[in-house]
Amino acid sequence: MKKLFPFVIVILLNGCAGTRQIKTAAGSLKDTYKKDFLIGAAISWRQVEEKDPVARELVPRQFNTVTPENLMKEMELTSAWGTYDFSRADRFVDFAKANHLQVNGHTLVWHSQMPDFARRIQSADSFRTFFTDHIRKVAGHYSGKVQSWDVVNEALNEDGTLRSSPFLNKLGANYIVDAFKLTQEVAPNTALYYNDYNNEQPKKRAGCMALIKKIQQAGVRIDGVGIQGHWHVGKLPFKDIEESILQYAALGIKVAITELDIEVLPRNFTGADVSRRMNVGAGSDPYANGLPETVQKQLADDYGQLFALLLRHKDKISRVTFWGVHDGQSWLNNWPIAGRTSYPLLFDRKGNPKSAFYSVIKAKKK
Ligand code: XIL
Repeated sequence: MKKLFPFVIVILLNGCAGTRQIKTAAGSLKDTYKKDFLIGAAISWRQVEEKDPVARELVPRQFNTVTPENLMKEMELTSAWGTYDFSRADRFVDFAKANHLQVNGHTLVWHSQMPDFARRIQSADSFRTFFTDHIRKVAGHYSGKVQSWDVVNEALNEDGTLRSSPFLNKLGANYIVDAFKLTQEVAPNTALYYNDYNNEQPKKRAGCMALIKKIQQAGVRIDGVGIQGHWHVGKLPFKDIEESILQYAALGIKVAITELDIEVLPRNFTGADVSRRMNVGAGSDPYANGLPETVQKQLADDYGQLFALLLRHKDKISRVTFWGVHDGQSWLNNWPIAGRTSYPLLFDRKGNPKSAFYSVIKAKKK
Protein backbone atom coordinates (compact mmCIF):
# COMPACT_ATOMS: atom_id res chain seq x y z
CA MET A 1 0.00 0.00 0.00
CA LYS A 2 2.75 2.42 1.04
CA LYS A 3 4.50 1.86 -2.26
CA LEU A 4 1.56 3.44 -4.06
CA PHE A 5 2.30 6.78 -2.43
CA PRO A 6 6.05 7.18 -2.44
CA PHE A 7 6.15 10.94 -1.94
CA VAL A 8 3.71 12.18 0.62
CA ILE A 9 1.64 10.07 2.91
CA VAL A 10 -1.13 11.78 4.78
CA ILE A 11 -2.05 9.95 7.89
CA LEU A 12 -5.13 10.55 9.92
CA LEU A 13 -4.70 10.01 13.58
CA ASN A 14 -6.87 10.61 16.56
CA GLY A 15 -5.03 13.04 18.78
CA CYS A 16 -6.04 14.18 22.24
CA ALA A 17 -7.48 17.38 20.78
CA GLY A 18 -9.67 15.57 18.27
CA THR A 19 -8.81 14.43 14.77
CA ARG A 20 -5.52 15.77 13.48
CA GLN A 21 -3.63 15.42 10.28
CA ILE A 22 0.06 14.74 10.16
CA LYS A 23 1.83 15.10 6.86
CA THR A 24 4.94 13.02 6.75
CA ALA A 25 7.51 13.07 3.99
CA ALA A 26 8.19 9.58 2.74
CA GLY A 27 11.94 10.05 3.19
CA SER A 28 13.11 7.99 6.10
CA LEU A 29 16.25 8.55 8.14
CA LYS A 30 16.72 4.89 8.99
CA ASP A 31 16.35 3.76 5.38
CA THR A 32 18.58 6.51 4.02
CA TYR A 33 21.35 5.59 6.48
CA LYS A 34 20.73 1.85 6.64
CA LYS A 35 24.14 0.91 5.25
CA ASP A 36 25.97 3.45 7.42
CA PHE A 37 24.88 3.48 11.06
CA LEU A 38 21.80 3.10 13.22
CA ILE A 39 19.55 6.13 13.63
CA GLY A 40 17.76 6.56 16.94
CA ALA A 41 15.64 8.74 19.18
CA ALA A 42 15.21 9.08 22.92
CA ILE A 43 11.62 8.35 23.85
CA SER A 44 9.53 9.26 26.88
CA TRP A 45 7.03 7.33 29.00
CA ARG A 46 4.17 9.21 27.32
CA GLN A 47 5.44 8.00 23.97
CA VAL A 48 5.78 4.41 25.22
CA GLU A 49 2.17 4.66 26.36
CA GLU A 50 1.32 5.80 22.84
CA LYS A 51 -0.21 9.04 24.08
CA ASP A 52 1.86 11.11 21.66
CA PRO A 53 0.33 10.56 18.21
CA VAL A 54 3.11 12.47 16.47
CA ALA A 55 5.76 10.15 17.91
CA ARG A 56 3.57 7.11 17.33
CA GLU A 57 3.71 7.87 13.64
CA LEU A 58 7.34 8.99 13.41
CA VAL A 59 9.22 6.50 15.58
CA PRO A 60 8.73 3.27 13.61
CA ARG A 61 9.02 5.08 10.27
CA GLN A 62 12.13 7.12 10.95
CA PHE A 63 14.23 5.25 13.49
CA ASN A 64 15.67 1.78 14.06
CA THR A 65 16.90 2.22 17.63
CA VAL A 66 15.58 3.93 20.76
CA THR A 67 17.00 5.07 24.08
CA PRO A 68 14.76 5.58 27.13
CA GLU A 69 14.94 9.31 27.88
CA ASN A 70 14.48 8.64 31.60
CA LEU A 71 12.91 5.22 32.19
CA MET A 72 16.06 3.23 32.98
CA LYS A 73 17.75 5.82 35.17
CA GLU A 74 18.52 4.76 38.75
CA MET A 75 15.71 6.72 40.42
CA GLU A 76 13.15 5.43 37.93
CA LEU A 77 13.91 1.79 38.73
CA THR A 78 14.45 1.85 42.48
CA SER A 79 13.24 4.16 45.23
CA ALA A 80 13.94 1.94 48.25
CA TRP A 81 16.88 -0.29 49.07
CA GLY A 82 16.54 -3.70 47.40
CA THR A 83 13.22 -2.92 45.71
CA TYR A 84 13.01 -2.66 41.95
CA ASP A 85 10.10 -1.78 39.71
CA PHE A 86 10.84 -2.64 36.10
CA SER A 87 7.27 -2.26 34.87
CA ARG A 88 7.66 0.97 32.89
CA ALA A 89 11.11 0.14 31.54
CA ASP A 90 9.83 -3.30 30.52
CA ARG A 91 6.95 -1.63 28.67
CA PHE A 92 9.54 0.48 26.87
CA VAL A 93 11.45 -2.67 25.84
CA ASP A 94 8.19 -4.29 24.66
CA PHE A 95 7.37 -1.16 22.64
CA ALA A 96 10.82 -1.33 21.00
CA LYS A 97 10.41 -5.00 20.18
CA ALA A 98 6.94 -4.55 18.73
CA ASN A 99 8.29 -1.78 16.49
CA HIS A 100 11.50 -3.59 15.47
CA LEU A 101 13.73 -1.10 17.24
CA GLN A 102 17.05 -1.85 18.88
CA VAL A 103 17.51 -0.56 22.42
CA ASN A 104 20.33 1.37 24.02
CA GLY A 105 20.08 1.15 27.80
CA HIS A 106 20.64 4.50 29.53
CA THR A 107 22.24 4.40 32.08
CA LEU A 108 23.64 2.18 34.87
CA VAL A 109 25.97 4.55 36.73
CA TRP A 110 25.21 8.29 36.86
CA HIS A 111 25.46 10.85 39.65
CA SER A 112 22.20 12.57 38.54
CA GLN A 113 18.67 11.16 38.91
CA MET A 114 19.82 8.84 41.70
CA PRO A 115 17.26 7.73 44.29
CA ASP A 116 17.43 9.65 47.59
CA PHE A 117 18.17 6.55 49.65
CA ALA A 118 21.32 5.89 47.60
CA ARG A 119 22.47 9.49 47.96
CA ARG A 120 22.08 9.22 51.72
CA ILE A 121 24.18 6.04 52.12
CA GLN A 122 27.06 6.91 54.43
CA SER A 123 29.30 3.89 54.57
CA ALA A 124 31.57 3.03 51.66
CA ASP A 125 30.78 -0.68 52.13
CA SER A 126 27.03 -0.15 51.87
CA PHE A 127 27.48 2.11 48.87
CA ARG A 128 29.56 -0.57 47.16
CA THR A 129 26.78 -3.08 47.84
CA PHE A 130 24.23 -0.72 46.27
CA PHE A 131 26.50 -0.12 43.25
CA THR A 132 27.25 -3.81 42.68
CA ASP A 133 23.69 -4.99 43.23
CA HIS A 134 22.26 -2.26 41.02
CA ILE A 135 24.44 -3.14 38.04
CA ARG A 136 23.89 -6.89 38.45
CA LYS A 137 20.17 -6.50 38.88
CA VAL A 138 19.51 -4.03 36.05
CA ALA A 139 22.04 -5.18 33.44
CA GLY A 140 21.12 -8.79 34.29
CA HIS A 141 17.39 -8.09 33.90
CA TYR A 142 17.92 -6.59 30.46
CA SER A 143 20.65 -8.96 29.26
CA GLY A 144 19.67 -10.13 25.78
CA LYS A 145 16.97 -7.44 25.61
CA VAL A 146 19.09 -4.34 25.08
CA GLN A 147 21.82 -4.21 22.45
CA SER A 148 24.02 -1.67 24.24
CA TRP A 149 24.40 0.07 27.60
CA ASP A 150 25.67 3.49 28.55
CA VAL A 151 27.43 1.79 31.47
CA VAL A 152 28.79 4.98 33.01
CA ASN A 153 27.47 8.45 32.22
CA GLU A 154 29.28 11.78 32.70
CA ALA A 155 32.13 10.75 35.01
CA LEU A 156 34.49 13.50 33.81
CA ASN A 157 35.08 17.17 34.54
CA GLU A 158 35.78 19.61 31.72
CA ASP A 159 39.53 19.41 32.40
CA GLY A 160 39.50 15.64 31.99
CA THR A 161 39.81 14.77 35.69
CA LEU A 162 37.26 12.54 37.39
CA ARG A 163 34.12 14.32 38.60
CA SER A 164 33.40 14.37 42.30
CA SER A 165 30.35 12.15 42.84
CA PRO A 166 29.08 9.60 45.34
CA PHE A 167 30.67 6.95 43.10
CA LEU A 168 34.13 8.53 43.05
CA ASN A 169 34.00 9.68 46.64
CA LYS A 170 32.86 6.36 48.12
CA LEU A 171 34.35 3.82 45.73
CA GLY A 172 37.56 5.46 44.50
CA ALA A 173 38.87 6.01 40.99
CA ASN A 174 38.58 2.38 39.95
CA TYR A 175 34.78 2.40 40.07
CA ILE A 176 34.47 2.87 36.32
CA VAL A 177 36.56 -0.22 35.56
CA ASP A 178 34.49 -2.09 38.17
CA ALA A 179 31.24 -0.96 36.55
CA PHE A 180 32.27 -2.25 33.12
CA LYS A 181 33.52 -5.52 34.62
CA LEU A 182 30.26 -6.12 36.49
CA THR A 183 28.18 -5.32 33.42
CA GLN A 184 30.27 -7.57 31.20
CA GLU A 185 29.72 -10.45 33.63
CA VAL A 186 25.92 -10.26 33.58
CA ALA A 187 25.46 -8.96 30.02
CA PRO A 188 28.10 -10.77 27.98
CA ASN A 189 26.45 -10.02 24.63
CA THR A 190 25.63 -6.35 25.18
CA ALA A 191 27.85 -3.60 23.73
CA LEU A 192 29.30 -1.49 26.55
CA TYR A 193 29.75 2.28 26.20
CA TYR A 194 31.16 5.15 28.21
CA ASN A 195 28.96 8.24 27.59
CA ASP A 196 29.61 11.95 28.19
CA TYR A 197 29.00 15.47 26.88
CA ASN A 198 31.80 17.75 25.67
CA ASN A 199 34.10 14.73 25.39
CA GLU A 200 34.94 15.91 21.89
CA GLN A 201 36.68 18.91 23.52
CA PRO A 202 40.48 18.38 23.72
CA LYS A 203 40.97 18.35 27.52
CA LYS A 204 37.92 16.29 28.33
CA ARG A 205 38.70 14.03 25.39
CA ALA A 206 42.20 13.38 26.77
CA GLY A 207 40.64 12.36 30.09
CA CYS A 208 38.17 10.16 28.26
CA MET A 209 40.94 8.48 26.25
CA ALA A 210 42.85 7.80 29.47
CA LEU A 211 39.72 6.30 31.03
CA ILE A 212 39.12 4.01 28.05
CA LYS A 213 42.76 2.88 28.07
CA LYS A 214 42.54 2.17 31.78
CA ILE A 215 39.51 -0.09 31.22
CA GLN A 216 41.25 -1.87 28.36
CA GLN A 217 44.48 -2.31 30.31
CA ALA A 218 42.54 -3.92 33.14
CA GLY A 219 41.47 -6.57 30.62
CA VAL A 220 37.86 -5.38 30.78
CA ARG A 221 35.67 -4.98 27.71
CA ILE A 222 34.59 -1.56 26.43
CA ASP A 223 33.01 -1.47 22.97
CA GLY A 224 32.47 2.18 22.40
CA VAL A 225 32.29 5.78 23.50
CA GLY A 226 29.22 7.96 23.33
CA ILE A 227 29.62 11.62 22.46
CA GLN A 228 26.28 13.05 23.62
CA GLY A 229 26.20 15.84 21.04
CA HIS A 230 24.23 18.58 22.82
CA TRP A 231 25.53 21.37 20.61
CA HIS A 232 24.57 24.94 19.80
CA VAL A 233 23.47 26.32 16.42
CA GLY A 234 26.27 28.00 14.46
CA LYS A 235 28.86 26.70 16.92
CA LEU A 236 29.30 23.03 16.16
CA PRO A 237 32.88 21.99 16.93
CA PHE A 238 33.33 20.09 13.66
CA LYS A 239 37.12 19.85 13.90
CA ASP A 240 37.02 18.55 17.46
CA ILE A 241 34.29 16.07 16.55
CA GLU A 242 36.33 14.71 13.65
CA GLU A 243 39.55 14.54 15.65
CA SER A 244 37.70 12.76 18.47
CA ILE A 245 36.21 10.16 16.14
CA LEU A 246 39.70 9.41 14.80
CA GLN A 247 41.33 9.23 18.22
CA TYR A 248 38.64 7.12 19.86
CA ALA A 249 38.47 4.75 16.91
CA ALA A 250 42.24 4.31 17.09
CA LEU A 251 41.67 2.67 20.48
CA GLY A 252 39.74 -0.06 18.67
CA ILE A 253 36.27 1.04 19.81
CA LYS A 254 33.19 2.43 18.07
CA VAL A 255 31.90 5.98 18.41
CA ALA A 256 28.20 6.78 18.82
CA ILE A 257 26.53 10.18 18.89
CA THR A 258 24.09 9.37 21.65
CA GLU A 259 21.99 12.45 22.50
CA LEU A 260 22.06 14.70 19.48
CA ASP A 261 20.24 18.02 19.51
CA ILE A 262 21.24 21.51 18.35
CA GLU A 263 20.05 24.30 20.66
CA VAL A 264 18.84 27.50 18.98
CA LEU A 265 18.06 29.44 22.18
CA PRO A 266 20.51 31.66 24.08
CA ARG A 267 22.77 29.91 26.58
CA ASN A 268 25.80 31.21 28.47
CA PHE A 269 27.59 27.86 28.82
CA THR A 270 28.18 24.73 26.72
CA GLY A 271 27.57 21.08 27.49
CA ALA A 272 24.66 19.42 29.25
CA ASP A 273 25.19 19.41 33.00
CA VAL A 274 21.57 18.89 34.08
CA SER A 275 22.21 20.55 37.45
CA ARG A 276 23.02 23.89 35.80
CA ARG A 277 20.25 26.45 35.39
CA MET A 278 19.94 29.92 33.90
CA ASN A 279 17.79 32.80 35.08
CA VAL A 280 15.00 34.11 32.92
CA GLY A 281 16.04 37.41 31.39
CA ALA A 282 15.10 39.75 28.58
CA GLY A 283 15.34 37.81 25.34
CA SER A 284 15.74 34.40 26.94
CA ASP A 285 12.79 32.94 24.99
CA PRO A 286 13.09 34.75 21.64
CA TYR A 287 11.23 32.35 19.33
CA ALA A 288 8.01 31.65 21.22
CA ASN A 289 6.08 32.62 18.08
CA GLY A 290 8.22 30.73 15.58
CA LEU A 291 11.78 30.22 14.41
CA PRO A 292 13.13 32.88 12.01
CA GLU A 293 14.10 31.59 8.57
CA THR A 294 17.78 32.56 9.07
CA VAL A 295 18.05 30.35 12.16
CA GLN A 296 16.11 27.55 10.47
CA LYS A 297 18.65 27.65 7.65
CA GLN A 298 21.65 27.72 9.98
CA LEU A 299 20.22 24.70 11.83
CA ALA A 300 19.76 22.86 8.53
CA ASP A 301 23.33 23.74 7.43
CA ASP A 302 24.76 22.55 10.75
CA TYR A 303 22.89 19.25 10.60
CA GLY A 304 23.89 18.74 6.95
CA GLN A 305 27.56 19.39 7.66
CA LEU A 306 27.50 17.15 10.72
CA PHE A 307 26.02 14.19 8.86
CA ALA A 308 28.47 14.69 5.97
CA LEU A 309 31.28 14.46 8.53
CA LEU A 310 29.77 11.38 10.19
CA LEU A 311 29.37 9.71 6.81
CA ARG A 312 33.07 10.24 6.04
CA HIS A 313 33.77 8.14 9.14
CA LYS A 314 30.86 5.74 8.95
CA ASP A 315 33.16 2.74 9.48
CA LYS A 316 33.88 4.11 12.97
CA ILE A 317 30.33 5.16 13.88
CA SER A 318 27.81 2.68 15.26
CA ARG A 319 24.79 4.88 15.89
CA VAL A 320 23.43 8.43 15.88
CA THR A 321 20.58 9.02 18.33
CA PHE A 322 18.58 12.25 18.60
CA TRP A 323 17.56 13.34 22.11
CA GLY A 324 13.87 13.32 21.35
CA VAL A 325 11.55 12.57 18.43
CA HIS A 326 10.21 16.06 17.69
CA ASP A 327 10.70 19.63 18.96
CA GLY A 328 7.68 19.47 21.25
CA GLN A 329 9.22 16.67 23.31
CA SER A 330 12.72 18.11 23.63
CA TRP A 331 14.11 18.55 27.14
CA LEU A 332 15.56 21.86 25.85
CA ASN A 333 12.08 23.41 26.21
CA ASN A 334 12.70 23.10 29.96
CA TRP A 335 16.45 23.20 30.48
CA PRO A 336 18.33 25.24 31.57
CA ILE A 337 15.25 27.51 31.80
CA ALA A 338 11.76 26.07 32.19
CA GLY A 339 9.00 26.86 29.70
CA ARG A 340 10.94 28.08 26.67
CA THR A 341 10.17 27.18 23.06
CA SER A 342 13.09 25.40 21.43
CA TYR A 343 13.57 23.89 17.98
CA PRO A 344 16.56 21.55 18.23
CA LEU A 345 15.44 18.44 16.31
CA LEU A 346 14.54 17.40 12.75
CA PHE A 347 10.74 17.30 13.16
CA ASP A 348 8.52 20.14 14.31
CA ARG A 349 5.80 19.94 16.94
CA LYS A 350 3.30 18.56 14.45
CA GLY A 351 5.73 15.93 13.20
CA ASN A 352 6.47 17.72 9.96
CA PRO A 353 10.03 17.42 8.67
CA LYS A 354 12.02 20.68 8.97
CA SER A 355 14.68 21.95 6.55
CA ALA A 356 17.18 20.23 8.85
CA PHE A 357 15.55 16.87 8.08
CA TYR A 358 16.02 17.42 4.36
CA SER A 359 19.67 18.43 4.79
CA VAL A 360 20.33 15.20 6.70
CA ILE A 361 18.74 13.20 3.88
CA LYS A 362 20.65 15.25 1.29
CA ALA A 363 23.99 14.75 3.08
CA LYS A 364 23.73 11.09 2.16
CA LYS A 365 22.76 11.69 -1.44
CA LYS A 366 25.67 14.05 -2.19
C1 XIL B 1 17.51 14.56 30.53
C2 XIL B 1 16.07 14.25 30.14
O1 XIL B 1 15.92 14.52 28.76
C3 XIL B 1 15.11 15.06 30.97
O2 XIL B 1 13.77 14.65 30.71
C4 XIL B 1 15.42 14.91 32.46
O3 XIL B 1 14.60 15.76 33.20
C5 XIL B 1 16.88 15.23 32.74
O4 XIL B 1 17.70 14.41 31.92
N1 XIL B 1 22.50 14.05 29.50
C6 XIL B 1 21.97 12.79 29.70
C7 XIL B 1 20.51 12.60 29.69
O5 XIL B 1 22.74 11.81 29.76
O6 XIL B 1 20.10 11.55 30.53
C8 XIL B 1 19.78 13.88 30.07
O7 XIL B 1 18.38 13.66 29.87
C9 XIL B 1 20.27 15.04 29.22
C10 XIL B 1 21.74 15.26 29.43
